[in-house]
Amino acid sequence: MRLSSLLSLATNVAAVTISVSKDEGKDASPLQYGLMFEDINFSGDGGIYAELIRNRAFQGDEFMPSTLDPWSAFGPADISLFNLTTPLSSALPTSVTVKGRARGEIGISNPGYWGIDVLPQTYKGSFWVFGDYQGDFKAALRSASSGEILASVNIPSHSNTRGWTKHEFALDSDIAAGYKTNFTLTFVAESSHQVLNFNLISLFPPTYNNRENGLRQDLMQSLKDLNPSFMRIPGGNNLQGKLPGSRWKWNETIGDLIDRPGRTGAWRYHNTDGLGLIEYMLWCQDLKVEPVLILWAGLYLDGTVIPENELDFYVQDALHEIEFLTGDASTEYGAKRVALGYATPFEINFVGVGNEDHFSSGMTSYNEYRFRMFFDAISEKYPHLQILSSTIELDPIPKGAVLDYHDYGNPDGAVRNFTLFDDQDASNKILVGEYGVARNNGNEVLWKDHRKRPWWIASVAEAVFYLGVERNPDTVYGCAFAPLLQNIESYQWNPNLITFNANTSATVRSTSFHVMELLSNNRFTTLLPVENSDEYDPGFWVAGLNDDLNTYVWKGAVYNTTTEQEFEINFPGSQQGAVAELTVLTAPDPFSENIFGEPDLVDTRRTRLEAGQKGFAFVLPQWSVAVLSWQYRSTK
Ligand SMILES: *[C@@H]1O[C@H](CO)[C@@H](O)[C@H](O)[C@H]1NC(C)=O
Ligand SMILES: *[C@@H]1O[C@H](CO)[C@@H](O)[C@H](O)[C@H]1NC(C)=O
Ligand SMILES: *[C@@H]1O[C@H](CO)[C@@H](O)[C@H](O)[C@H]1NC(C)=O
Ligand SMILES: *[C@@H]1O[C@H](CO)[C@@H](O)[C@H](O)[C@H]1NC(C)=O
Ligand SMILES: *[C@@H]1O[C@H](CO)[C@@H](O)[C@H](O)[C@H]1NC(C)=O
Ligand SMILES: *[C@@H]1O[C@H](CO)[C@@H](O)[C@H](O)[C@H]1NC(C)=O
Ligand SMILES: *[C@@H]1O[C@H](CO)[C@@H](O)[C@H](O)[C@H]1NC(C)=O
Repeated sequence: MRLSSLLSLATNVAAVTISVSKDEGKDASPLQYGLMFEDINFSGDGGIYAELIRNRAFQGDEFMPSTLDPWSAFGPADISLFNLTTPLSSALPTSVTVKGRARGEIGISNPGYWGIDVLPQTYKGSFWVFGDYQGDFKAALRSASSGEILASVNIPSHSNTRGWTKHEFALDSDIAAGYKTNFTLTFVAESSHQVLNFNLISLFPPTYNNRENGLRQDLMQSLKDLNPSFMRIPGGNNLQGKLPGSRWKWNETIGDLIDRPGRTGAWRYHNTDGLGLIEYMLWCQDLKVEPVLILWAGLYLDGTVIPENELDFYVQDALHEIEFLTGDASTEYGAKRVALGYATPFEINFVGVGNEDHFSSGMTSYNEYRFRMFFDAISEKYPHLQILSSTIELDPIPKGAVLDYHDYGNPDGAVRNFTLFDDQDASNKILVGEYGVARNNGNEVLWKDHRKRPWWIASVAEAVFYLGVERNPDTVYGCAFAPLLQNIESYQWNPNLITFNANTSATVRSTSFHVMELLSNNRFTTLLPVENSDEYDPGFWVAGLNDDLNTYVWKGAVYNTTTEQEFEINFPGSQQGAVAELTVLTAPDPFSENIFGEPDLVDTRRTRLEAGQKGFAFVLPQWSVAVLSWQYRSTK
């Protein structure tokens, strides 16, 4: 035992005794822990969306023109962008022209989203070609340094000059060869003037639940491990759009990939929109979470606001979007979904009107007419829907509107905010749609401090905040950490919950991930009152009963303290000899961070704990998060 802990034990005051009562419980919120997703800096494209080829269809628009980047020519060939008089589709007018300079194997090469992980598995690919060619195409994964072929397949051509033809292939790899690889698509030029055009060149690894056009398995598994209950989609700023005309248009993200033009997202790259509205819904289904669907509400990030007399067009567009997802085949837009092969309507219970409308000079118009117009139209047509206002500053707040609260504060503030929801007026419930401790206690914003953060003290503070959410089910639905995913090859924002690159074994779970994982996987269905011998701080806690598991749960966190904190906890009916499980998370110091390429610093310790005369007794050090669970009867 270290000297410091000996001293602290010597000076320790009495234990906090906590008795959990079984009377006067309240239903816990079924939502509690959630996720907020948006395609920020290649966390959708290049991230959870499993497509491996970057810039697969040369998409561009008036904000960001098409580019060849990161494609290069393979062999003696020149490549350029070209708009054929017969485009692949009106959504994808631009293709790549490959022109031979000599006879031999020529084509195009793509490095993926900073690499393509080559594993022993089957990749599914496809591409479209225009032009006369009789031989075989070859799709291959190659070492990016030596060019050596790691896996390849020959694909007989049925290409011609009458139109575009689609070629599909399966690419089997027998080996794990790392992610520093390129994809090449080649053909054999018989003469020095051979020309072919290619578009929508796509390659997928096996996806989560084997969905076509699906999601990356390892990242989905990480999300699943968080046991989330809701997901806010399809983004915040990215949904809004930076400049007039660049908003996310739901109707251009559906249907065949050749019909999706993509768009310039808010984070300075072109979104493929392969991850479209339906894919978001399937994602929610696969995670078994409640979608919280954010609707575009008339505000661009540059501050441009749609005037009142023009807003109805967008209100109708939002209604069409809801009908597309939830309507049956007899409705105009529901029928469009059915025609795409999704006969069963999706279930939506929460929609949000815009994102952070108190920013970008949006508040005045939001208060004056924007929120109201959406709220009235949606509640009239879909009275069962919970409608979120994108800010708590709405004034007046219509009865029944839910408030979407966002906060990126500092650790001390998050701890103080343990009580933030205690005295809220329950007539307007809150959903914390974005949350993360993003500042240090000097209140400097740390998200520019590249890959550093979250760090442990911030994660412990987030735990305290979550406990504050859990103990107020009458006023808060739940809380979503944001942002969720960070592509280490291209990012700007910190903190993030999960960091990754193309190497599917390298994914890093942040300190905050571990905290949310522990608290979210130990739910209770009924919140129970507790009698405490002491005030909160440095210890914070909440307790409840999980009816399905016959388990009492106590969750706690200890923030700054010079002495270790002793606890003695009694659950209803827990007698001497009862055995509970105690899980404690700690880290070496308050500034420990889980950094890409370095080991996980969070220590998770599980112990079986027998109740003594005074109940379940244990000690927690400063900056720790813990769950004590006692199953009073087996569930058989
Ligand atoms: C293709 O057409 C688009 C849209 O009209 C235009 O913006 C782009 O510059 C054209 N690209 C080429 C390579 O001609
Ligand atoms: C793989 O692609 C990268 C990026 O385009 C390129 O720099 C590199 O030369 C390619 N490797 C080979 C062996 O061609
Ligand atoms: C999508 O809807 C918008 C109206 O919100 C419309 O302007 C646009 O043309 C539609 N796009 C397609 C491809 O139908
Ligand atoms: C605590 O709540 C206040 C009031 O909503 C807010 O201004 C502050 O940023 C919050 N701090 C944290 C860290 O959440
Ligand atoms: C990531 O986002 C930041 C901020 O928008 C931007 O400066 C950076 O270029 C982005 N990275 C890429 C590769 O787009
Ligand atoms: C991929 O990540 C794993 C785990 O961090 C690491 O052991 C491996 O070396 C990485 N692969 C490459 C090619 O860097
Ligand atoms: C808690 O500890 C941290 C790290 O030492 C420090 O920055 C912060 O000011 C402390 N907060 C309080 C309220 O004492």
